[in-house]
Amino acid sequence: MARLVHSDASGPVEVKVGAESKWICMCGLSKKKPFCDGSHKACSGEEAGKLYRYVDGKRVETT
Ligand code: FES
Repeated sequence: MARLVHSDASGPVEVKVGAESKWICMCGLSKKKPFCDGSHKACSGEEAGKLYRYVDGKRVETT
């Protein structure tokens, strides 16, 4: 079963747990969800109004 998820976030959101910061993935690419693993760096250079999918960490523009 496959699922297509749309996200326009390009970075994590910080959540404070006591005095500690946790970074939650908002881009959808992390392999350690719900936490950010830095995979959002692959979103760099995305253009507004275009749609992309990511396969094995590689960006593919869809039409
Ligand atoms: S926000 Fe998704 S990996 Fe960092």
